Amino acid sequence: MERELATFVAQNPRSHALHERARASLLEGVPMNWMVKWAGSFPLFVESAGGAHFTDVDGHDYVDFCLGDTGAMAGHSPAQTVAAVERQLRRGITLMLPIEDAIAAGDELRRRFGLRYWQFTITATDANRFSLRLARHISGRSKVLVHDFNYHGSVDESFANVTADGRVVSRRGNIGPAVDPALTTRVVPINDIPALEAALADGDVAAMLIEPALTNVGIVLPEPGYLEAVRELTRRTGTILIIDETHTICAGPGGATRAWGLDPDMLVIGKTIGGGIPVGTYGFTEEIGERIAASIPLEDSDVGGVGGTLAGYALSMTAVRATLTEVLTDAAFERMIRLAERWTAGVEQVIAGSGAPWHVTRLGCRAEYHFMPTPPRTGAEQNAASDPELERFLHLYAMNRRVLMTPFHNMALMCPATSEADVDRHTEVFAAAVGELFE
Ligand SMILES: Cc1ncc(COP(=O)(O)O)c(C=O)c1O
Repeated sequence: MERELATFVAQNPRSHALHERARASLLEGVPMNWMVKWAGSFPLFVESAGGAHFTDVDGHDYVDFCLGDTGAMAGHSPAQTVAAVERQLRRGITLMLPIEDAIAAGDELRRRFGLRYWQFTITATDANRFSLRLARHISGRSKVLVHDFNYHGSVDESFANVTADGRVVSRRGNIGPAVDPALTTRVVPINDIPALEAALADGDVAAMLIEPALTNVGIVLPEPGYLEAVRELTRRTGTILIIDETHTICAGPGGATRAWGLDPDMLVIGKTIGGGIPVGTYGFTEEIGERIAASIPLEDSDVGGVGGTLAGYALSMTAVRATLTEVLTDAAFERMIRLAERWTAGVEQVIAGSGAPWHVTRLGCRAEYHFMPTPPRTGAEQNAASDPELERFLHLYAMNRRVLMTPFHNMALMCPATSEADVDRHTEVFAAAVGELFE
């Protein structure tokens, strides 16, 4: 680690100098506190990015498997999105009036995910928060149910874990919670059907908000039958099922919802769909749409906690239309998934050859290796096997050799511009790192 840290500092004098300069006005020298999480002793400053690569200010070219933690899953500055957005930039950025592209965006989301009505926000976090508010509003119930070790953005109700004896507690690192999440939230481990049944038994849960596979603690896939049980139990207890596809869109053009034939009442997605332009969205069934429309008086519609001046703004509508219909196409997904299979096969081969007690999981065009010999069954299992120091070492080792991984756990994402050579570069660097660790 010492050797790699010294290499990082020696290789990146301009990033280092910019970070020192940034400390004058930016807390810890970064515009958002997450950006201190990178494995080097300072973050890389970026000169430019395009497709699956970026160049830092010291002139190094990187293969980017982080892709802005999915914000750039369409690739950096995809040409079709840029062309459409450039045109709209000159025709009005935000108006609080719809533009025609909003219809194409809604139609395409409806085609992909099957839900009738759509509304737009600026982030996936907002889309989740609004979905929960609306679910509580129309159901008259107070509680929210989430998976243990979930992440749905900065959504107050979701920052909760469940203890071994079934208590809901604030999750580690929860910053300034408005209220104790035990008052708002129930938590169940993914793949635990008896716990789910118990959590829903009182009939006071407005909504169950889940990723269909956990992706934010490390990929944890649903076991066969689990999501069917979720649907059956939520339906039986009148609980609104909200599926958050913000990351699991990697499963295919219609996310896990289409790939696995899920049938949510509401669906949230953000990040990817604008090709990097901020936007989130939530969709819902016709029945829920009618309940929402009937329950919000016109006079109150702008002050009820669901909305936003820039929500649905013109530029974002153009970005969604162009990104979904021209960039993240069915053909692009097919290619991206094939590349993730290649990435997974490469990592598998290295693990098998080294005897490392590790495992690799893939979900569509996203893949991840875990420091455990078999796939995790729950978020808690995955969390127990995490090793922040080892992760940092592997991330830094890769960065020093021009491969960028997501700074949280060991995840890689393919975009339409990722190439086989990019994937093979990762395999090569991963093999070298594992070789040094297990020699
Ligand atoms: C599943 C999921 N939902 C929602 C979000 C929130 O996205 P944003 O930070 O863009 O609001 C994230 C962010 O990582 C996410 O992984």
